[in-house]
Amino acid sequence: MSEIQIKDLAFVPYINETELQKLISDVAQKINSDYKGKEILFVGVLNGVFMFASDLMKRIDLKCQISFVKLSSYDGTETTGIIKELFGLTESVESKHVILLEDIVDTGITIEGLYNDLLKQKPASLEICTLLFKPDKYTKGVPIKYVAKSVPNEFVVGYGLDYDGFGRNIPSIYQLKS
Ligand code: IMP
Ligand code: MG
Repeated sequence: MSEIQIKDLAFVPYINETELQKLISDVAQKINSDYKGKEILFVGVLNGVFMFASDLMKRIDLKCQISFVKLSSYDGTETTGIIKELFGLTESVESKHVILLEDIVDTGITIEGLYNDLLKQKPASLEICTLLFKPDKYTKGVPIKYVAKSVPNEFVVGYGLDYDGFGRNIPSIYQLKS
């Protein structure tokens, strides 16, 4: 793996495929043991979560369902602070054990809005699971129970994460070159 270029920006390798799969297995194991005997409804936040959701689901050995919502607060490499709900959940989450899936939690604006909306529907439980977490940028109080990896405050792409819509197809994660 070496440096790559996406539009005007250069990125360097950060988390390789082997490490990613190990991180995901570890999170799946925790969920499998925490939810033993329960049914889970995963709610993935599109677009970025599609690869993580797919690899995580394959490692869940409990009864589970998955649904997706499409939200977005990003424009280029900066959060806009404005959440646009592009499409929402069609089914009820009432009395279900819900785990929200995110590719990355940055300021937390995106996930907080969704979390509070779903809480109003009275799920049996509600937790957040994210592949990556930027603790230095997190400004919200909503607990992020499952974090595959905490990362520094650097822009990353690949494995579902994009820069201006590009880079989602890269099978590993790259970091903005400093
Ligand atoms: P938040 O609302 O600030 O927590 O931003 C969360 C959303 O912004 C994530 O679901 C991503 O789609 C996007 N995002 C945040 N940081 C990055 C990054 O480093 N690379 C690509 N997308 C990011
Ligand atoms: Mg996202």
